[in-house]
Amino acid sequence: MVSIAVLGYGTVGSGVVEVIEKNREVIDRRAGKKIRVKYILDLRDFPGDPYEDRIVHDINVILQDPEVSVICETMGGNEPAFTYSMQALRAGKSVCTSNKELVANHGAELIRTARENSCNYLFEASVGGGIPIIRPLNVALTAERIELISGILNGTTNYILTRMAEDGSDFASSLREAQEKGYAERNPEADVEGYDACRKIAILASLMTGKTVRYEEIYTEGITKLTHEDFLYAKKLGQYIKLLASVREVDGNYYAMVAPFMIGEKNPLHSVNDVFNAIFIRGNTLGDSMYYGRGAGKLPTASAVVSDVIDCAKHGRTHILCLWEEEKLPLCSIDGASRKFFVRASQGCEEEAKELFGEIELTDAGVAGEFGFVTPLITEKEFAEKSAALSGFISRIRMEEA
Ligand code: HSE
Repeated sequence: MVSIAVLGYGTVGSGVVEVIEKNREVIDRRAGKKIRVKYILDLRDFPGDPYEDRIVHDINVILQDPEVSVICETMGGNEPAFTYSMQALRAGKSVCTSNKELVANHGAELIRTARENSCNYLFEASVGGGIPIIRPLNVALTAERIELISGILNGTTNYILTRMAEDGSDFASSLREAQEKGYAERNPEADVEGYDACRKIAILASLMTGKTVRYEEIYTEGITKLTHEDFLYAKKLGQYIKLLASVREVDGNYYAMVAPFMIGEKNPLHSVNDVFNAIFIRGNTLGDSMYYGRGAGKLPTASAVVSDVIDCAKHGRTHILCLWEEEKLPLCSIDGASRKFFVRASQGCEEEAKELFGEIELTDAGVAGEFGFVTPLITEKEFAEKSAALSGFISRIRMEEA
Protein backbone atom coordinates (compact mmCIF):
# COMPACT_ATOMS: atom_id res chain seq x y z
CA MET A 1 0.00 0.00 0.00
CA VAL A 2 1.12 3.56 -0.72
CA SER A 3 -0.01 6.13 1.85
CA ILE A 4 -0.20 9.66 0.57
CA ALA A 5 -0.78 13.10 2.06
CA VAL A 6 -2.52 15.99 0.33
CA LEU A 7 -1.29 19.49 1.19
CA GLY A 8 -4.12 21.98 0.71
CA TYR A 9 -7.78 20.87 0.64
CA GLY A 10 -8.95 23.49 -1.88
CA THR A 11 -10.20 22.96 -5.41
CA VAL A 12 -7.37 20.77 -6.71
CA GLY A 13 -6.62 19.04 -3.38
CA SER A 14 -10.21 17.96 -2.89
CA GLY A 15 -10.22 16.91 -6.57
CA VAL A 16 -7.23 14.63 -5.92
CA VAL A 17 -9.11 12.93 -3.07
CA GLU A 18 -12.21 12.63 -5.29
CA VAL A 19 -10.32 11.12 -8.25
CA ILE A 20 -8.61 8.56 -6.00
CA GLU A 21 -11.99 7.59 -4.51
CA LYS A 22 -13.90 7.57 -7.81
CA ASN A 23 -11.30 5.59 -9.81
CA ARG A 24 -9.95 3.55 -6.89
CA GLU A 25 -10.07 0.19 -8.63
CA VAL A 26 -8.36 1.18 -11.86
CA ILE A 27 -5.81 3.37 -10.04
CA ASP A 28 -4.79 0.56 -7.69
CA ARG A 29 -4.54 -1.87 -10.60
CA ARG A 30 -2.38 0.48 -12.64
CA ALA A 31 -0.17 1.44 -9.72
CA GLY A 32 0.24 -2.20 -8.77
CA LYS A 33 -0.49 -1.18 -5.16
CA LYS A 34 -3.33 0.29 -3.16
CA ILE A 35 -3.14 4.09 -2.98
CA ARG A 36 -4.78 5.61 0.10
CA VAL A 37 -5.06 9.16 1.43
CA LYS A 38 -3.71 9.09 5.00
CA TYR A 39 -3.54 12.83 5.74
CA ILE A 40 -4.90 16.10 4.40
CA LEU A 41 -3.08 19.21 5.56
CA ASP A 42 -5.11 22.39 5.76
CA LEU A 43 -5.47 25.36 8.09
CA ARG A 44 -9.20 24.75 8.25
CA ASP A 45 -11.32 21.96 9.72
CA PHE A 46 -13.97 20.31 7.56
CA PRO A 47 -16.76 19.14 9.88
CA GLY A 48 -19.02 16.61 8.14
CA ASP A 49 -16.53 15.94 5.32
CA PRO A 50 -16.04 12.19 4.69
CA TYR A 51 -12.28 12.78 5.12
CA GLU A 52 -12.68 14.89 8.27
CA ASP A 53 -10.67 12.38 10.32
CA ARG A 54 -7.62 12.72 8.00
CA ILE A 55 -7.30 16.51 8.39
CA VAL A 56 -4.13 17.65 10.17
CA HIS A 57 -2.78 21.15 10.74
CA ASP A 58 0.89 20.35 11.35
CA ILE A 59 3.16 19.38 8.43
CA ASN A 60 5.47 17.54 10.86
CA VAL A 61 2.83 14.85 11.42
CA ILE A 62 3.19 14.02 7.71
CA LEU A 63 6.95 14.47 7.45
CA GLN A 64 7.58 12.25 10.48
CA ASP A 65 5.29 9.42 9.39
CA PRO A 66 7.45 6.79 7.64
CA GLU A 67 4.35 5.25 6.06
CA VAL A 68 3.77 8.34 3.89
CA SER A 69 5.82 8.03 0.73
CA VAL A 70 4.07 10.47 -1.65
CA ILE A 71 2.85 14.00 -1.06
CA CYS A 72 0.49 15.96 -3.32
CA GLU A 73 1.25 19.65 -3.01
CA THR A 74 -1.90 21.44 -4.14
CA MET A 75 -1.48 24.57 -2.03
CA GLY A 76 -0.29 26.92 -4.77
CA GLY A 77 2.08 29.88 -4.30
CA ASN A 78 5.72 29.86 -3.28
CA GLU A 79 5.55 29.60 0.49
CA PRO A 80 5.05 27.50 2.49
CA ALA A 81 4.78 25.16 -0.53
CA PHE A 82 8.52 25.42 -1.30
CA THR A 83 9.65 24.73 2.29
CA TYR A 84 7.24 21.81 2.70
CA SER A 85 8.22 20.31 -0.67
CA MET A 86 11.95 20.54 0.10
CA GLN A 87 11.41 19.01 3.56
CA ALA A 88 9.42 16.15 2.05
CA LEU A 89 12.01 15.44 -0.66
CA ARG A 90 14.86 15.53 1.86
CA ALA A 91 12.90 12.96 3.87
CA GLY A 92 12.77 10.76 0.73
CA LYS A 93 9.09 11.39 0.07
CA SER A 94 8.12 12.08 -3.55
CA VAL A 95 6.13 15.22 -4.31
CA CYS A 96 3.48 15.63 -7.04
CA THR A 97 2.27 19.15 -7.68
CA SER A 98 -0.07 21.36 -9.66
CA ASN A 99 1.78 24.49 -8.49
CA LYS A 100 3.06 26.22 -11.64
CA GLU A 101 4.42 29.21 -9.74
CA LEU A 102 6.64 27.01 -7.59
CA VAL A 103 7.74 24.83 -10.52
CA ALA A 104 8.58 27.90 -12.63
CA ASN A 105 10.53 29.44 -9.74
CA HIS A 106 12.34 26.44 -8.28
CA GLY A 107 11.81 23.49 -10.65
CA ALA A 108 15.49 22.64 -11.21
CA GLU A 109 16.35 22.82 -7.50
CA LEU A 110 13.40 20.65 -6.51
CA ILE A 111 14.25 18.06 -9.18
CA ARG A 112 17.90 17.99 -8.04
CA THR A 113 16.80 17.53 -4.43
CA ALA A 114 14.55 14.65 -5.49
CA ARG A 115 17.46 13.07 -7.40
CA GLU A 116 19.81 13.43 -4.41
CA ASN A 117 17.25 11.74 -2.16
CA SER A 118 16.20 8.95 -4.55
CA CYS A 119 12.63 10.11 -4.94
CA ASN A 120 10.66 12.21 -7.43
CA TYR A 121 9.34 15.71 -7.97
CA LEU A 122 6.60 15.45 -10.62
CA PHE A 123 4.52 18.31 -12.00
CA GLU A 124 2.27 17.08 -14.84
CA ALA A 125 -0.61 19.29 -13.62
CA SER A 126 1.42 22.50 -13.60
CA VAL A 127 0.98 23.16 -17.34
CA GLY A 128 -2.17 22.57 -19.35
CA GLY A 129 -4.18 21.18 -16.38
CA GLY A 130 -5.40 17.78 -17.50
CA ILE A 131 -3.49 17.77 -20.81
CA PRO A 132 -0.60 15.31 -20.71
CA ILE A 133 2.34 17.49 -21.78
CA ILE A 134 5.11 17.17 -19.19
CA ARG A 135 5.32 13.38 -19.50
CA PRO A 136 5.33 13.49 -23.35
CA LEU A 137 8.22 15.99 -23.18
CA ASN A 138 10.11 13.83 -20.67
CA VAL A 139 9.39 10.47 -22.26
CA ALA A 140 7.75 10.21 -25.68
CA LEU A 141 9.54 13.17 -27.32
CA THR A 142 13.02 12.61 -25.89
CA ALA A 143 14.40 11.46 -29.25
CA GLU A 144 13.53 14.84 -30.78
CA ARG A 145 15.32 18.13 -31.08
CA ILE A 146 12.36 20.36 -30.37
CA GLU A 147 12.30 23.43 -32.60
CA LEU A 148 9.07 25.05 -31.47
CA ILE A 149 6.53 24.90 -28.68
CA SER A 150 3.55 27.17 -29.18
CA GLY A 151 0.49 26.97 -27.04
CA ILE A 152 -2.76 28.36 -25.81
CA LEU A 153 -1.92 27.87 -22.16
CA ASN A 154 -4.54 29.94 -20.39
CA GLY A 155 -8.20 28.98 -20.34
CA THR A 156 -9.52 32.26 -18.94
CA THR A 157 -8.08 34.39 -21.73
CA ASN A 158 -9.03 31.89 -24.40
CA TYR A 159 -12.62 32.02 -23.15
CA ILE A 160 -12.60 35.84 -23.26
CA LEU A 161 -11.09 35.91 -26.77
CA THR A 162 -13.63 33.35 -28.00
CA ARG A 163 -16.51 35.48 -26.67
CA MET A 164 -15.06 38.61 -28.28
CA ALA A 165 -14.71 36.80 -31.62
CA GLU A 166 -18.03 34.97 -31.62
CA ASP A 167 -20.38 37.41 -29.84
CA GLY A 168 -18.80 40.70 -30.88
CA SER A 169 -18.55 41.70 -27.23
CA ASP A 170 -15.85 43.92 -25.78
CA PHE A 171 -13.09 42.91 -23.37
CA ALA A 172 -14.77 44.18 -20.17
CA SER A 173 -18.09 42.41 -20.71
CA SER A 174 -16.38 39.16 -21.83
CA LEU A 175 -14.26 39.26 -18.68
CA ARG A 176 -17.38 39.82 -16.57
CA GLU A 177 -19.05 36.84 -18.22
CA ALA A 178 -15.97 34.69 -17.56
CA GLN A 179 -16.07 35.75 -13.90
CA GLU A 180 -19.79 34.97 -13.62
CA LYS A 181 -19.17 31.49 -15.01
CA GLY A 182 -16.29 30.92 -12.57
CA TYR A 183 -13.65 30.83 -15.35
CA ALA A 184 -11.90 34.01 -14.21
CA GLU A 185 -10.74 35.06 -10.76
CA ARG A 186 -12.10 38.14 -8.99
CA ASN A 187 -8.61 39.57 -9.55
CA PRO A 188 -7.95 38.43 -13.12
CA GLU A 189 -4.57 40.17 -13.54
CA ALA A 190 -2.38 37.04 -13.68
CA ASP A 191 -4.49 35.62 -16.50
CA VAL A 192 -5.36 38.68 -18.59
CA GLU A 193 -1.88 40.19 -18.39
CA GLY A 194 -0.34 36.91 -19.60
CA TYR A 195 1.65 36.18 -16.39
CA ASP A 196 0.05 32.73 -15.94
CA ALA A 197 0.83 31.68 -19.53
CA CYS A 198 4.34 33.10 -19.08
CA ARG A 199 5.09 30.82 -16.12
CA LYS A 200 3.75 27.82 -18.03
CA ILE A 201 5.85 28.47 -21.15
CA ALA A 202 8.90 29.01 -18.89
CA ILE A 203 8.37 25.47 -17.55
CA LEU A 204 7.98 24.00 -21.05
CA ALA A 205 10.99 25.96 -22.34
CA SER A 206 13.10 24.64 -19.46
CA LEU A 207 12.13 21.06 -20.30
CA MET A 208 12.77 21.72 -24.00
CA THR A 209 16.29 23.02 -23.35
CA GLY A 210 17.26 21.16 -20.16
CA LYS A 211 18.29 24.49 -18.61
CA THR A 212 16.37 27.04 -16.57
CA VAL A 213 14.40 29.60 -18.54
CA ARG A 214 13.49 32.41 -16.14
CA TYR A 215 9.94 33.65 -16.66
CA GLU A 216 11.00 37.20 -15.77
CA GLU A 217 13.03 37.25 -19.00
CA ILE A 218 10.16 36.26 -21.29
CA TYR A 219 8.57 39.15 -23.16
CA THR A 220 4.93 39.14 -22.03
CA GLU A 221 1.92 41.05 -23.26
CA GLY A 222 -1.67 40.32 -22.20
CA ILE A 223 -5.04 40.77 -23.88
CA THR A 224 -6.36 43.86 -22.06
CA LYS A 225 -5.73 46.24 -24.95
CA LEU A 226 -7.65 44.21 -27.54
CA THR A 227 -10.89 45.77 -28.71
CA HIS A 228 -14.03 44.76 -30.53
CA GLU A 229 -12.66 46.49 -33.67
CA ASP A 230 -9.57 44.24 -33.69
CA PHE A 231 -11.88 41.26 -34.13
CA LEU A 232 -13.71 42.95 -37.02
CA TYR A 233 -10.38 43.30 -38.82
CA ALA A 234 -9.35 39.73 -37.93
CA LYS A 235 -12.59 38.40 -39.43
CA LYS A 236 -12.08 40.46 -42.56
CA LEU A 237 -8.57 39.04 -42.92
CA GLY A 238 -9.67 35.43 -42.23
CA GLN A 239 -7.61 35.43 -39.05
CA TYR A 240 -8.18 34.41 -35.41
CA ILE A 241 -6.80 36.30 -32.40
CA LYS A 242 -5.22 34.00 -29.79
CA LEU A 243 -2.93 34.55 -26.81
CA LEU A 244 0.08 32.45 -27.78
CA ALA A 245 2.91 31.44 -25.48
CA SER A 246 5.85 30.18 -27.46
CA VAL A 247 9.49 29.21 -27.40
CA ARG A 248 11.42 28.74 -30.62
CA GLU A 249 14.95 27.61 -31.43
CA VAL A 250 16.65 29.29 -34.38
CA ASP A 251 20.28 28.27 -35.08
CA GLY A 252 20.94 27.48 -31.43
CA ASN A 253 19.34 30.71 -30.20
CA TYR A 254 16.14 30.68 -28.18
CA TYR A 255 13.28 33.17 -28.43
CA ALA A 256 10.31 33.06 -26.07
CA MET A 257 7.29 35.30 -25.75
CA VAL A 258 3.67 35.59 -24.68
CA ALA A 259 1.43 37.91 -26.73
CA PRO A 260 -1.82 38.05 -28.69
CA PHE A 261 -1.29 36.92 -32.28
CA MET A 262 -3.42 36.82 -35.39
CA ILE A 263 -3.22 33.28 -36.71
CA GLY A 264 -4.68 31.76 -39.87
CA GLU A 265 -6.56 28.54 -40.51
CA LYS A 266 -3.37 26.68 -41.36
CA ASN A 267 -2.40 26.90 -37.70
CA PRO A 268 -4.27 24.14 -35.83
CA LEU A 269 -4.44 26.34 -32.72
CA HIS A 270 -6.96 28.60 -34.50
CA SER A 271 -9.85 26.24 -33.67
CA VAL A 272 -9.04 25.91 -29.96
CA ASN A 273 -11.89 27.76 -28.28
CA ASP A 274 -13.51 28.55 -24.93
CA VAL A 275 -11.60 27.35 -21.88
CA PHE A 276 -9.69 24.70 -23.80
CA ASN A 277 -5.89 24.73 -24.02
CA ALA A 278 -3.65 23.21 -26.66
CA ILE A 279 0.07 22.85 -27.16
CA PHE A 280 1.68 22.53 -30.56
CA ILE A 281 5.16 20.99 -30.70
CA ARG A 282 7.46 20.74 -33.71
CA GLY A 283 10.31 18.23 -33.53
CA ASN A 284 13.10 17.95 -36.09
CA THR A 285 12.28 14.36 -37.06
CA LEU A 286 8.74 13.95 -35.74
CA GLY A 287 7.38 17.07 -37.42
CA ASP A 288 4.24 18.53 -35.89
CA SER A 289 2.22 17.20 -32.99
CA MET A 290 -0.51 18.75 -30.87
CA TYR A 291 -1.97 18.13 -27.42
CA TYR A 292 -5.47 19.36 -26.60
CA GLY A 293 -7.78 19.33 -23.62
CA ARG A 294 -9.04 21.01 -20.48
CA GLY A 295 -6.28 23.26 -19.22
CA ALA A 296 -7.85 23.91 -15.84
CA GLY A 297 -10.65 22.76 -13.56
CA LYS A 298 -10.84 20.64 -10.45
CA LEU A 299 -11.01 17.10 -11.80
CA PRO A 300 -8.89 17.43 -14.98
CA THR A 301 -6.07 19.03 -12.95
CA ALA A 302 -6.49 16.51 -10.11
CA SER A 303 -6.38 13.65 -12.62
CA ALA A 304 -2.93 14.83 -13.76
CA VAL A 305 -1.71 15.01 -10.13
CA VAL A 306 -2.98 11.48 -9.49
CA SER A 307 -1.24 10.21 -12.64
CA ASP A 308 1.99 11.46 -11.04
CA VAL A 309 1.11 9.68 -7.79
CA ILE A 310 0.72 6.44 -9.77
CA ASP A 311 4.11 7.03 -11.42
CA CYS A 312 5.66 7.53 -7.97
CA ALA A 313 3.99 4.37 -6.68
CA LYS A 314 5.39 2.41 -9.64
CA HIS A 315 8.91 3.75 -9.17
CA GLY A 316 9.25 3.64 -5.37
CA ARG A 317 12.67 5.07 -4.43
CA THR A 318 13.91 5.08 -8.05
CA HIS A 319 14.42 8.59 -9.41
CA ILE A 320 12.86 9.17 -12.84
CA LEU A 321 15.42 11.18 -14.80
CA CYS A 322 14.22 14.64 -15.77
CA LEU A 323 16.74 16.89 -17.49
CA TRP A 324 16.26 20.40 -16.09
CA GLU A 325 19.47 21.91 -14.77
CA GLU A 326 19.78 25.02 -12.62
CA GLU A 327 22.05 26.74 -15.19
CA LYS A 328 20.18 29.66 -16.71
CA LEU A 329 19.44 29.66 -20.43
CA PRO A 330 19.97 33.12 -21.92
CA LEU A 331 17.08 34.09 -24.19
CA CYS A 332 17.59 36.28 -27.25
CA SER A 333 15.87 39.63 -27.32
CA ILE A 334 12.75 39.51 -29.48
CA ASP A 335 14.02 42.68 -31.26
CA GLY A 336 15.59 40.54 -33.97
CA ALA A 337 12.55 38.30 -34.58
CA SER A 338 10.88 38.86 -37.98
CA ARG A 339 7.16 38.70 -38.61
CA LYS A 340 4.29 40.55 -40.25
CA PHE A 341 2.21 42.96 -38.19
CA PHE A 342 -1.40 44.00 -38.50
CA VAL A 343 -1.72 47.75 -37.90
CA ARG A 344 -4.68 50.06 -37.35
CA ALA A 345 -4.17 53.71 -38.31
CA SER A 346 -6.24 56.87 -38.74
CA GLN A 347 -7.76 57.55 -42.13
CA GLY A 348 -5.62 59.84 -44.24
CA CYS A 349 -2.20 58.38 -43.46
CA GLU A 350 -2.28 55.57 -46.06
CA GLU A 351 0.51 57.15 -48.14
CA GLU A 352 2.65 57.75 -45.06
CA ALA A 353 2.19 54.08 -44.09
CA LYS A 354 3.29 52.98 -47.58
CA GLU A 355 6.36 55.20 -47.46
CA LEU A 356 7.37 53.82 -44.07
CA PHE A 357 6.58 50.13 -44.48
CA GLY A 358 6.74 49.58 -48.28
CA GLU A 359 4.39 46.96 -49.78
CA ILE A 360 1.47 46.99 -47.34
CA GLU A 361 -1.82 45.16 -47.74
CA LEU A 362 -4.69 47.57 -46.96
CA THR A 363 -7.90 46.38 -45.37
CA ASP A 364 -11.21 48.02 -44.50
CA ALA A 365 -13.40 46.45 -41.80
CA GLY A 366 -15.92 49.30 -41.86
CA VAL A 367 -14.55 51.01 -38.75
CA ALA A 368 -15.20 54.75 -39.03
CA GLY A 369 -12.20 57.07 -39.29
CA GLU A 370 -9.52 54.43 -39.68
CA PHE A 371 -8.07 51.69 -41.86
CA GLY A 372 -5.99 48.59 -41.31
CA PHE A 373 -2.95 47.20 -43.06
CA VAL A 374 -0.59 44.23 -42.94
CA THR A 375 3.12 44.97 -43.11
CA PRO A 376 5.67 42.93 -45.04
CA LEU A 377 8.03 40.75 -42.96
CA ILE A 378 9.88 43.08 -40.62
CA THR A 379 11.87 42.74 -37.40
CA GLU A 380 10.33 43.75 -34.07
CA LYS A 381 12.95 46.50 -33.75
CA GLU A 382 12.28 47.97 -37.19
CA PHE A 383 8.55 47.77 -36.57
CA ALA A 384 8.85 49.65 -33.27
CA GLU A 385 10.82 52.44 -34.99
CA LYS A 386 8.52 52.74 -38.01
CA SER A 387 5.26 52.55 -36.07
CA ALA A 388 6.53 55.29 -33.73
CA ALA A 389 7.05 57.46 -36.82
CA LEU A 390 3.55 56.80 -38.24
CA SER A 391 1.46 59.83 -37.27
CA GLY A 392 -1.93 58.06 -37.31
CA PHE A 393 -0.79 54.85 -35.60
CA ILE A 394 -3.56 53.36 -33.39
CA SER A 395 -2.52 49.82 -32.49
CA ARG A 396 -0.90 46.62 -33.77
CA ILE A 397 -1.25 42.87 -33.45
CA ARG A 398 1.56 40.51 -34.32
CA MET A 399 0.93 37.95 -37.03
CA GLU A 400 2.42 34.48 -37.18
CA GLU A 401 6.09 34.23 -37.95
CA ALA A 402 6.91 33.07 -41.46
N1 HSE B 1 -6.19 30.56 -14.50
C1 HSE B 1 -5.64 29.44 -15.20
C2 HSE B 1 -6.28 29.38 -16.59
C3 HSE B 1 -5.90 28.19 -14.42
O1 HSE B 1 -7.23 30.11 -16.85
O2 HSE B 1 -5.81 28.64 -17.45
C4 HSE B 1 -5.03 27.03 -14.77
O3 HSE B 1 -3.67 27.26 -14.54
